[in-house]
Amino acid sequence: MQSRRRFLGTFTLPAAAAAVGVPFRPTFLRASASDIAVELKRHPGAPDAIASDEDFWFEVSRAFTVDRTLVNLNNGGVSPAPGWVQDAMKRHLDYSNLAPPYTMWSILEPQREGVRERMARQWGVDKEEVAFTRNASESLQIMQLGLDFERGDEVLTTTQDYPRMITTFKQRERRDGIVLRQIRIPIPAEDPAEVVRLFEGAITPKTRAILASHMINITGQILPVRELSVMARSHGIPLIIDGAHALAHFDFTLADLDVDNYSTSLHKWLFAPHGTGLLYVRREKIQDVWPMMAAPDTMDDNIRKFEEIGTHPAANYLAIGEALTFHQGIGPARKDARLVYLRNYWAERLLEHDRVRLHTSLKPGFACGIATVQVEGVDTGELNNWLWDKHRILSVGIKHPEFEGIRVSPSVYTRPEELDRFVDAVGSVVKNGLA
Ligand SMILES: Cc1ncc(COP(=O)(O)O)c(C=O)c1O
Repeated sequence: MQSRRRFLGTFTLPAAAAAVGVPFRPTFLRASASDIAVELKRHPGAPDAIASDEDFWFEVSRAFTVDRTLVNLNNGGVSPAPGWVQDAMKRHLDYSNLAPPYTMWSILEPQREGVRERMARQWGVDKEEVAFTRNASESLQIMQLGLDFERGDEVLTTTQDYPRMITTFKQRERRDGIVLRQIRIPIPAEDPAEVVRLFEGAITPKTRAILASHMINITGQILPVRELSVMARSHGIPLIIDGAHALAHFDFTLADLDVDNYSTSLHKWLFAPHGTGLLYVRREKIQDVWPMMAAPDTMDDNIRKFEEIGTHPAANYLAIGEALTFHQGIGPARKDARLVYLRNYWAERLLEHDRVRLHTSLKPGFACGIATVQVEGVDTGELNNWLWDKHRILSVGIKHPEFEGIRVSPSVYTRPEELDRFVDAVGSVVKNGLA
């Protein structure tokens, strides 16, 4: 019964970890921000060369306070924040509590503008196009609930999109009489033109919006959102982009994508405080989208209307600044190359076994740090629980109508030795079963 409870739906291990009480305690003293910065400067070189430089990544790992008694291979769910991001947040929280109406509202809250400007600059857009939200779910629901639809209008997405976003459209089906259409795309999908064709082929005269993931959460598949955006625009249909896993994971800018909106969490791959997200909306499109909480009409074309959510902490949002600095310090291209290196490190070795199947492409450009692996003949839920019970390895067991497998998402602090343990554990299951 317990193992069944621990394998409900798509995401199992956070629940499993909670059930067994993952301890919260740093296992070694973390390095200071300046120590790390000095060390990182000692490692110049091309991203691909740095990707396997364990001295460099050891210094990066020292910024985190993670529990090394377990192996956390579910960094895609939600990431630990580096110590100095946590420190900044605590500092701002302490200050907030001195006299919140003054310190939090009058002093700290306006400082959000500086963070907005830096985030906009990093991803190549205007600060008047960037709103902070609590997570990707909030950003996406602003888009999904904020566009005007009429009864009978259709919205289009895939069968692999995030369950909460599907639920959001399904609620609109019940409430507003719209129709959700879901298409299947290949797993993995290695032909971007085919993906665009599949979406375009499902458009009807009633299609009013398309939802597509930049990176599909259950496989790590990267979709061609730039091309999808061009296609959707040619039909006059808004494309809502779910970038929950993509931003600050692989190396791109919003300017590169040339899209009209983009929703992401910042507590995944930017390593920002938990409960932070971002919504980008192209300036001319802001007035087309209703905020989820009401804002005055004077704010109709102001990106800040999406931040009108009542009283909220300032600390979380301000500490995004430290997370951004950490991201810049590592270097987006180096981070991307390291995450690909770590994925290949475990995946290529597991693929040497006959019964191991990967549901993620290893070809350049189709995925980054996340990949999903299946051992044929072994139940994914049981394997996922076994990894935790026997080896204290946290992963995500996925059972989807079209495939199943263990989702693996190491991070910049993951040590190769931890991946060796994962590879050896799965290798032993291939040979001996769940013994
Ligand atoms: C593809 C995708 N979209 C949206 C979300 C929602 O993110 P959050 O829970 O941070 O709101 C997730 C979370 O894992 C996701 O994987």
